[in-house]
Amino acid sequence: MNPFDKSFADIPAYLINEHFNDRYFDIVNAVEEANYIHFEGNHILKRLSEQTTGTKTLSIGELGFGTGRNVVALTSLLDKSGLKDLTIDIYSVELYPITASRMDEILKPFEAQTGSAIELLINEYKKLNLELTGWHKMEIHAAFGKIYLNLFIGEALDMVNSLEKPCECWFLDGHGPKANPEMWREELMIAVGKKTKPQGTCTTFTVARDVVNNLTAAGFTIIKWPGIGGKKSVLRGEFR
Ligand SMILES: C[S@@+](CC[C@H](N)C(=O)[O-])C[C@H]1O[C@@H](n2cnc3c(N)ncnc32)[C@H](O)[C@@H]1O
Repeated sequence: MNPFDKSFADIPAYLINEHFNDRYFDIVNAVEEANYIHFEGNHILKRLSEQTTGTKTLSIGELGFGTGRNVVALTSLLDKSGLKDLTIDIYSVELYPITASRMDEILKPFEAQTGSAIELLINEYKKLNLELTGWHKMEIHAAFGKIYLNLFIGEALDMVNSLEKPCECWFLDGHGPKANPEMWREELMIAVGKKTKPQGTCTTFTVARDVVNNLTAAGFTIIKWPGIGGKKSVLRGEFR
């Protein structure tokens, strides 16, 4: 038995997304998981440090905002990177937004690892009217520069279709395909491909065959690489 499965029963209820009966993330390795799968997989720091003059920019799409853990881990990584003059645009989506207090409860245990990043996100998130569907804007200001965090409340395909510009990379983080096949359907992956810049990349924690097939149909060349925590391998896609 995978040791990760064994611990599933011990996961506190507030960490389980009741709409999918699935956990929001690997609770043991949540920050490392984001750093490894999404940030290393998309070469975030490399892409930013290769921009030698002026403001360094990056646009990121995310399917599955959830608890904001990826945003917090990214803010913390950038903070520790020593990079300056960054402008990061994030476009994320969430069908079932959680309350700010639940976000706080879920993320609090990672405070020692991520410093002020949790507070920076929650201060912005609690200003949102979560009843309103469509785009919501947040801003995170830190010593490295700014993160413009655009959160679409609603269905993933509507979010992707409403993007005005393609993204340079994508974090595909929408629960596993068994729990949530909708988040990996071919129509959605093809829409993501259409909203990816040339040489763009995507990353995900699942290596399920349907996910590989649908991302391939969307124009990504898929590379499997060793996983982290309970995951034997993970995926990285390069847009052809
Ligand atoms: C695994 S969680 C995301 C974890 C998140 N990236 C984080 O860092 O906390 C997946 C999220 O996708 C959302 N979701 C699932 N299906 C969706 C859909 N069709 N459209 C938009 N969001 C969806 C879920 O409600 C859930 O919050």
